[in-house]
Amino acid sequence: MSIKRAVYPGSFDPPTLGHIDLVQRGLQLVDELVVAVLRNRNKDSLFSVDERIEMLEECLSEEPHIRVESFEGLLVDFAEKMGCQSILRGLRAVSDFEYEFQMALMNRRLAPNLETLFLMPSEDHVFVSSRIVREVAYFGGDLTSLVPDRVLAHLKEKFPLQ
Ligand code: PNS
Repeated sequence: MSIKRAVYPGSFDPPTLGHIDLVQRGLQLVDELVVAVLRNRNKDSLFSVDERIEMLEECLSEEPHIRVESFEGLLVDFAEKMGCQSILRGLRAVSDFEYEFQMALMNRRLAPNLETLFLMPSEDHVFVSSRIVREVAYFGGDLTSLVPDRVLAHLKEKFPLQ
């Protein structure tokens, strides 16, 4: 079966080169990818949802067959609303596995026809996470190999001393 449309959900706070790598890999397999930013009221975030959407749109402007959206509530409900047949997630290391496995099985229970697809990022990005990026940015470290240039510009606005 070919996958017509998949959703790539996440917090993307901020988007990293790992996220962009995963989008590009996903686009080899699906006709259209919906990158979906979670609106999570409980989570302290560095960037607002609108800022994250703006950064993703800037970073992915060259990629055809992409749309960037936000969602609230259950991912499976959003996926169904958007007509997605699959959920795309990145698997970087064994440490990701338990959380991802639990989430994939829960989503399958909620929506048996929605298949989760795991892709591995390039080994250049396996250790990169938004949390690590936020921490390095806070302390003024070099982020050039971790985030796209557009995201770097937004981080410099948040942390002017960098
Ligand atoms: O980038 P993240 O923070 O690892 O992404 C987590 C995300 C957004 C995929 C996950 O928290 C999610 O899907 N939240 C929506 C609520 C939901 O559907 N939960 C049930 C699945 S366990």
